[in-house]
Amino acid sequence: MPLECAVLGKDVAITETTIPVISPYWRLKRNGHWTLLCRYDHERPRYCVLSPKAGAALALMDGRLTVRHLTMIAQYAFNLESQEKSQEFITRIISEANREDDAVVNMTPELEAYVKRIDPFDFVVKASRWKEQQRLATPISLNVMFSNDCQPNCAFCFAKGHCVPEGKLLSTERWKELLREAKGLGIDQVTLSGGDPLLRKDSLQLIEEMIALEMLFTLSTKCHITEKIADSLVAIGMTQPVNQYVREIQLSMDPDEPTADKLAGSPGYYNRAVRSIGNLLKRGFNLRVKSVVTALTAPYVYDWVEELQDMGLRQISIAAYNRSLTGNTDKMFLGTEGLNSILEQCRQARIDFPEIDLSTAGLEHGEQSWDRYSEPFGPLPGEDKGIAEKITLCREEGRYGAHSSMTITPDGKVMLYDTVPRDEMLFVGDVSKDSIAEVWNSDALRNFTHPRSEQFKGAACYDCKDLAKCQSKAGYCFREAYFKSGTVFVPPAECPMIQAEA
Ligand SMILES: C[S@@+](CC[C@H](N)C(=O)[O-])C[C@H]1O[C@@H](n2cnc3c(N)ncnc32)[C@H](O)[C@@H]1O
Ligand code: SF4
Ligand code: SF4
Repeated sequence: MPLECAVLGKDVAITETTIPVISPYWRLKRNGHWTLLCRYDHERPRYCVLSPKAGAALALMDGRLTVRHLTMIAQYAFNLESQEKSQEFITRIISEANREDDAVVNMTPELEAYVKRIDPFDFVVKASRWKEQQRLATPISLNVMFSNDCQPNCAFCFAKGHCVPEGKLLSTERWKELLREAKGLGIDQVTLSGGDPLLRKDSLQLIEEMIALEMLFTLSTKCHITEKIADSLVAIGMTQPVNQYVREIQLSMDPDEPTADKLAGSPGYYNRAVRSIGNLLKRGFNLRVKSVVTALTAPYVYDWVEELQDMGLRQISIAAYNRSLTGNTDKMFLGTEGLNSILEQCRQARIDFPEIDLSTAGLEHGEQSWDRYSEPFGPLPGEDKGIAEKITLCREEGRYGAHSSMTITPDGKVMLYDTVPRDEMLFVGDVSKDSIAEVWNSDALRNFTHPRSEQFKGAACYDCKDLAKCQSKAGYCFREAYFKSGTVFVPPAECPMIQAEA
């Protein structure tokens, strides 16, 4: 059960007697000279960069001080001219932290056990040092592929084409070292990609290590979870909470038995998935079932949700088959009609099965617009425009995983996404020989996230007046460019100039 959190400035008003607290779902973190607000979300961990004053003020919000107390401290600490101005300052920091999020909430006795106590002095930083930093000093999360092997062979899967022979896999000990290094760098959010995380012989050992390090992750799998595997997962602590989080097992499954078996390329797969669900539910796992819906399975969504709800499942995710990666129009491609049909079935399912938490992704039209900038941030009193501008830019970059995460493939080669093929052109490092920190700070990696104009020589971007704006979105750019042209530093299909010409 999620904790009840009333978001300040949204669910409840901010008054003098309000006691603000950083939501247990969020963490204040130091990242080099920056302070970040981070939220764990297994689809895409979220974060925002705070200005030095916002970071210092939020560090005081640990559920013990009222807005009135915070106002008095801020007036003195930040040399603000009056108590009214100081209250305005505190209210603005809370409102901006909650602008697109739910990070600062009203303190209640129920939250007491989940609030992390921090030392506010750890979050005091000189503006000059803050300004020196140009990018995240360490990644926020890691995407790890323990193995590229799978039990099924899903027709729609973007991860196909990643094939590392067993003899080249990173050793158990190297994976453990990397996980410990990550934790030491402050990375506590990991995505387990694949292939399938359970297909490596020592996968339970690696998962146990992540649990021991108190890392947050979702175990997404399409393996058959037998009674024995389910028991082993309980034994290594998968059902134990970290603070308020119980790690999720996401069982991937497709609707409609004959179609699902065909899509998975594995007779009997659907019934094995049904048995896996039973084995997991029986042991009290935090279980979600996810389907990547294609045109072939779209007609069966409602019936499938009903079947799962009858089995006692309460969490379901539906993602649209991601065509943008290949731009293809194969028979799995979901046109407008397919998308609308899924949306309508989900709408009806939410009405008919209100106890089901049914989340969807990639179904709304135009979700990935090139022009979706957030409102720019204004400077706080006493902070200069440069700080606010950098924060606005970081928020834009934050939409692209490549700026905050990296993907470690089974032999240690590092890429910036798991949704691109295993192509040497896309390797940005190798953790079989280098550390995570070395790869993160290498020129090879930075050339992808913040490319230099010379890298575009011979392409339209080279002397384009919009290059700077595009560079802040390079994570997006290079992947789209790659899928369009098979190479990297060229305009992507969504380049506004190409679109205008078309
Ligand atoms: C690559 S899989 C790895 C984990 C595991 N093998 C599984 O299937 O859950 C990670 C996630 O990507 C999703 N996925 C695979 N191909 C996709 C596609 N073409 N579009 C959208 N999601 C996809 C899978 O459903 C799964 O939830
Ligand atoms: S969706 Fe998962 S199980 Fe299916 S082929 Fe892709 S990685 Fe393997
Ligand atoms: S992608 Fe298009 S808009 Fe962006 S820099 Fe290249 S040519 Fe210019």
